[in-house]
Amino acid sequence: MANVVRDPAQDPEAILPDLSKANPLVTFTKQDIAFVYGSKWKQRYFTKVGDDYFPLPAQWDVAHSKWLPYFVKSGTDWWSGLYPADNMKRPTGPLCDGCHSVNYNLRTRTVTEWNVGCERCHGPGSVHVKSPARDTIVNPGRLDPVRASDTCIQCHSQGRPPRDPIEGQHVDWPVGFNMRNHLSDFWQLEEHRLGETSFTHFADGTAHKNRMQGNDFVQSAMYTHGVTCFSCHDPHGTSYDADLLRPPSEMCLQCHGPGSPNGPHAASITEHTHHKAGSEGNECVACHMPRIEQTTPDDFVRSHTFRFITPAMTERSKIPSPCTSCHTEKTITWATQTLEGWSERSPWRMRE
Ligand code: HEC
Ligand code: HEC
Ligand code: HEC
Ligand code: HEC
Ligand code: HEC
Ligand code: HEC
Ligand code: HEC
Repeated sequence: MANVVRDPAQDPEAILPDLSKANPLVTFTKQDIAFVYGSKWKQRYFTKVGDDYFPLPAQWDVAHSKWLPYFVKSGTDWWSGLYPADNMKRPTGPLCDGCHSVNYNLRTRTVTEWNVGCERCHGPGSVHVKSPARDTIVNPGRLDPVRASDTCIQCHSQGRPPRDPIEGQHVDWPVGFNMRNHLSDFWQLEEHRLGETSFTHFADGTAHKNRMQGNDFVQSAMYTHGVTCFSCHDPHGTSYDADLLRPPSEMCLQCHGPGSPNGPHAASITEHTHHKAGSEGNECVACHMPRIEQTTPDDFVRSHTFRFITPAMTERSKIPSPCTSCHTEKTITWATQTLEGWSERSPWRMRE
C-alpha cells in the first residue's frame, strides 16, 4: 500500500506502458506526467497546472496491457454531475488525493506525505515522536471493532462527506477525519435501497464496483461479531497476496471448521463444499468471496459480504453466480438443481 503515487522524475520505472508507441487515446507525453497512480490493476496519470493536479484522459490496464479512456461520465459517481465534463476542470485534490496521501489540505493543496503513511492509521504522531508511549499514538488493534475497521473503511469504501460542498468544493473523501475521531461524523457510506441495482450496488446490497470492501463488510455477520479487516489482513505487508495473514485456503480455517461454533455446520469441509479436497471449488473464497466487483473492464475483485449468492438471486437480480462463474458451460437451472441435491442446504434459502 506504500507507493500508489509516484513521481516519474524520481522513479522513471514507474510508468508501465511504452509511451513512444503511438495510440489514439494517448494525447500526452512523458513530460506532461507529474504523477503516476497505481500499478496493480490500472495506472492513471496526473498532470500539474499551478498548484493543482488533473487526470490525463487515458489509463493503462495492467493485466491486459492496453490503453483505456479515462473519464468519469455523469450519472456515475455522485460528484460526476457537479463538475464540468472535462478532466482538466476536475482537480484531483478534492476527488482523489485525500485517500492517496497523509493530511491533504484543501486550502493550501499540500500534503505531509504522499501515499498511505503511518499517521493515516495511527493518528497524528508528532507527540509520539517526542515522547514515545502507548497513549501518545493510536493502535487500531486496541480500538473497539467498529472503530478498528473504520481504520480501513476511511479509504476502502464508496461514500461522501455528510455535507457538501466543503470550502466551496465537492469532495469525495472524509475531510477532517483522523484516527482520534469517529469516521461516521465525516463520512457516509453510499446509500443503497434493497431491490435496486445502482451504479455502486447489486440489488441485494453487494457492491459491484471496486474499492467497496468497507461497504460490503459492514453487512457481514463477521463484522457484527467483532471480526475486523485486520483479522485477515496485515496492512504493513505480508508475503501473501493482498497482504493476507495466511494464504486464502488457510485464512478462514483459523476460525472456521467442522465442530466450530462459527460453522460451517457439516462433518467435514468437503461435505460442506461438495468439492474434492484440493479442488478450486473447495476453497472458501470460491463461493463466499466471488470476483464480481469491477475494477477495470475485464478485472474484478472479491466481494466482502461473505454471503453466498444463491441461484435465485442470480435469476432475479442478475448478480453473477459463483457456481456458473466457474462452471461456465452450465446453466443457472443446473446450479439450482445441484444445490437442491445437497441435502444439508436449505431449499427455502436457495430459492430466495
Ligand atoms: C493501513 C493502516 C496502517 C498503516 C499505514 C500503518 N499501520 Fe501500523 N498498525 C495498523 C493496525 C491495524 C495495527 C494493529 C494490528 C493488530 O493488532 O492486529 C497496527 C499495529 C502497529 C504496531 C504494533 C503496535 C503494538 O502495540 O503491538 C506498530 C509498532 C505499528 N503498527 C507501526 C506502524 C508504523 C511505524 C507505520 C508506518 C511505517 C504503520 N504502522 C503504518 C495499521 C496500519
Ligand atoms: C489512506 C487510505 C488507505 C487506508 C487508511 C487503508 N488503505 Fe488499503 N489501500 C489503499 C490504496 C491506495 C491501495 C492500493 C495500493 C496499490 O495499488 O499499490 C490499498 C491496497 C490495499 C490492499 C490490496 C493490496 C494488494 O496487494 O492487493 C489491501 C488488502 C488493503 N489495502 C487493506 C487495508 C486494510 C486492512 C486497511 C486498514 C487496516 C487499509 N487497507 C487501510 C489505501 C488505504
Ligand atoms: C475514498 C478514498 C479514495 C478516493 C476518493 C480515491 N481513491 Fe484511488 N484508491 C483507493 C483505494 C482504497 C484503492 C485500493 C483498492 C482498490 O483499488 O479498490 C485505490 C486504488 C486506486 C488505483 C489503482 C491502483 C492499482 O495499483 O491498480 C488508482 C489508479 C487510483 N486509486 C486512482 C484514483 C483516482 C484517479 C482518484 C480520483 C478520481 C481516486 N483514486 C480516488 C482509495 C481512494
Ligand atoms: C475474513 C477475512 C477477511 C476480512 C475480514 C477482510 N478481508 Fe479483504 N480479503 C480477504 C481475502 C481472502 C481476499 C482475497 C485474497 C486473494 O484473492 O488472494 C481479500 C482481498 C482484499 C483486497 C484485494 C482485492 C481483491 O479482492 O483481490 C482488499 C483491498 C481487501 N481485501 C480489503 C479489505 C478491507 C478494507 C476489509 C475490511 C473492510 C477486509 N478486506 C476484510 C479476506 C478478508
Ligand atoms: C477471526 C476469526 C474469523 C476468520 C479469520 C474468518 N471468520 Fe467467518 N465468521 C467468524 C465469526 C465469529 C462468525 C459469526 C458466527 C456466528 O454467526 O455465530 C463468522 C461467520 C461467517 C459466515 C456466516 C456469515 C453470515 O452472514 O451468515 C461465513 C459465510 C464466513 N464467516 C465465511 C468466512 C470466510 C470465507 C473466511 C475466510 C476468508 C472467514 N469466514 C474467516 C469468524 C471468522
Ligand atoms: C461450493 C460452494 C461453497 C464453498 C466452497 C464453501 N461454502 Fe460455505 N456455504 C455455501 C452455501 C451454499 C451456504 C449456505 C448459504 C445460505 O444458506 O445462505 C454456505 C454457508 C456457510 C456458512 C453459514 C452456515 C453454516 O453452516 O454455518 C459458513 C459459516 C460457511 N459457509 C463457511 C465456509 C467456509 C469456512 C468455507 C471454506 C472452508 C466454505 N464455507 C466453503 C457454499 C460454499
Ligand atoms: C472456483 C471454481 C468453482 C466454483 C465457485 C464452483 N465449482 Fe464446482 N467444480 C469446480 C471444479 C474445479 C470441479 C472439479 C473437481 C471436483 O470435483 O472437485 C467442480 C466439480 C463440481 C461438480 C462435480 C462434477 C460435475 O461437473 O458434475 C459439481 C456437481 C459442482 N462442481 C457443482 C458446483 C456448484 C453447485 C457450485 C456453486 C455452489 C460450484 N460447483 C462452485 C470448480 C468450482
